[in-house]
Amino acid sequence: MLLAIETSCDETAAAVVHQGRILSSVVRSQVDLFKEFGGIVPEISSRRHLELIQVIVEETLSRAGKGIEDMEAVAATKKPGLIGSLLVGYSYAKALAYGLGVSLVGVDHLHAHVYSAEIGRKFRFPLLGVVVSGGHTAAYMVEGLSFRVVARTRDDAAGEALDKVAKKLGLGYPGGPVIERMAKGGDPYAYDFPVVRLKDGSLDFSYSGLKSQAIRIIEREEVKGEKLRDFLASFQRAVMDQIIDRLDALVERYKPASLAVTGGVSINSHLRERVEKFSAQKGLALYLPEKRFCGDNAAMIGYLGEKLLEAGYREDLFSTPFPRTEASKGVKQFAK
Ligand code: KG4
Ligand code: ZN
Repeated sequence: MLLAIETSCDETAAAVVHQGRILSSVVRSQVDLFKEFGGIVPEISSRRHLELIQVIVEETLSRAGKGIEDMEAVAATKKPGLIGSLLVGYSYAKALAYGLGVSLVGVDHLHAHVYSAEIGRKFRFPLLGVVVSGGHTAAYMVEGLSFRVVARTRDDAAGEALDKVAKKLGLGYPGGPVIERMAKGGDPYAYDFPVVRLKDGSLDFSYSGLKSQAIRIIEREEVKGEKLRDFLASFQRAVMDQIIDRLDALVERYKPASLAVTGGVSINSHLRERVEKFSAQKGLALYLPEKRFCGDNAAMIGYLGEKLLEAGYREDLFSTPFPRTEASKGVKQFAK
């Protein structure tokens, strides 16, 4: 019986997991705090995690019908994320594991996103595991617990591009859900956003050019009413075009048996439909997370945490969280 904690960004989350089954999962979003800022304010987020964490853990235990003394292990997100936010959940988890005298396991948030697609199913390996979120856009070749980064964003993440364009239009934060809603019925080809490819032939992602192009249009034209609907449909289409374009090249290069598309943006219906069509064409098994496991949650942390524990991974009480991973932009040790 494992208690999992996730506080890497602006969701305070906990889950109780037992042998791959999610007994309870509670996610408390902080988005309301950040609507007026058009993005997360790290310091405010950390403080909010500290206020919420005990309440969320108690609610999670009570929904699972368990007491804290029933917990046989604790898992927490170790990296990547906002360091102040990570420190709250990780320190809480350390103290709890110490107090209960049980094992602590640290989990990579991005690896957990990939595994969120396996909950209730069984992956077929080798798997191309893609995470498309607000902080990261990355692809891994996955074999069991071994993750090899095969592409990552050079600049903005896909969700970040959606968020920034929504902010520029005054549509609030986060931008992804608003854009999906407002783009419905719009013409996805009304605006000609080309697929961005890197000149060096790399399969890495890049969203800053597309984002700037969209922002220039917003500054130049009055994008309103029906025009706004077409603009958002086109921009959303272009963000997803790049994902499909890279998937195509990555599948060609690495020949996976299956594909998982995960992370906050993977809840998007337009992306889901396109990925479904793509994998059917390629004859790949496709895993998409249940919608409740697309955005940040602790169920995925607990799900992967159990596997790591089984494989013998443990943290000692001197371990500390880390803001980045090998899939973060600018991390030098990344090797192709
Ligand atoms: O995985 P997540 O909850 O947090 C990170 O680890 O970043 O992802 C959040 C991202 C945000 O950029 C948000 O705009 C995007 O997921 N998102 C969406 C939708 N819902 C959330 N993007 C497109 N369509 C959506 N419906
Ligand atoms: Zn995430």
